[in-house]
Amino acid sequence: MVASRDARFSPGDRVTTIGSWQDYAIVDANVMPVRPVRPDVSLVQAMGPLGMNALTAYMGMTKIGRPEAGDVLVVSGAAGSTGSVAGQIGKIMGCRVIGIAGSTEKCNYLTQDLRFDAAINYREANVEQQIRALAPAGVNIFFDNVGGEILQAAVENIAKYGVIVLCGQIAGYDNSEPISGPRNMMRLVYGSVRMQGFLLGDFEDDIPAATDQLWQWLSAGKIAHREDVREGFESLPESFGDLSKGLNDGTLLVVTNSQEANATSV
Ligand SMILES: NC(=O)c1ccc[n+]([C@@H]2O[C@H](COP(=O)([O-])OP(=O)(O)OC[C@H]3O[C@@H](n4cnc5c(N)ncnc54)[C@H](OP(=O)(O)O)[C@@H]3O)[C@@H](O)[C@H]2O)c1
Repeated sequence: MVASRDARFSPGDRVTTIGSWQDYAIVDANVMPVRPVRPDVSLVQAMGPLGMNALTAYMGMTKIGRPEAGDVLVVSGAAGSTGSVAGQIGKIMGCRVIGIAGSTEKCNYLTQDLRFDAAINYREANVEQQIRALAPAGVNIFFDNVGGEILQAAVENIAKYGVIVLCGQIAGYDNSEPISGPRNMMRLVYGSVRMQGFLLGDFEDDIPAATDQLWQWLSAGKIAHREDVREGFESLPESFGDLSKGLNDGTLLVVTNSQEANATSV
């Protein structure tokens, strides 16, 4: 029996937290966020459409991007776990949404399944030119998961008073050195542009309300989500490497017990 000496948790409770790749962990809930899983959702749902990446998308859009109806929103890493939710929240908030992803299949998924207004395959197109063609008046919000040259393409197209939401820099995660920042920062000066990074943990107190909102949107069919679930603890290193190769389709999860991972507790 797995139990906790912390009075807030009882045997059988399901929680999520941030830890290492291990079967069992002792976690201090006063130091790390330990979030209860709603009884009516599975662990896959708790890590997928209600998980850390979806919550990050929610906070990045509502707290940092803060779009107004009619804004042009561009999302990089758009077919991934964080990006797909960020773009769909943009649609709910009335934006015209353009996604950037790395294959035709992913671009079709964005426009056909997630109802994005347009998608750019960065492996085949000149991203800077494509953004300009699709958003001639400029990009109001750029939600960036990638960094590097894709961030540069957005800088070159950012509108007056635009916002660049720095969520991640995945283009540099397999480099030994941090990737360079963008050039031509005078565009941000002349455009009075705000560029802001953030961490999900900056908004810990808002997470319960955000989870409820995401669940409502999901239940109402306003947000679609896909999980790429792999089996077995031993598949973790390869699965992690697949993130930087674009070989994941949606939120990449590794489960050790798929029956337990897909069950609710009601
Ligand atoms: N700020 C926070 O608190 C926070 C929290 C969670 C996640 N994040 C960030 O969110 C980002 C997305 O993470 P995720 O877990 O949701 O992953 P994900 O989007 O599900 O998977 C990563 C995707 O990034 C794309 N990618 C990888 N290397 C790329 C490159 N060099 N250029 C362009 N695209 C590339 C790939 O898709 P393609 O096939 O389209 O290339 C890949 O499928 C990461 O930067 C992560 O650090 C931030």
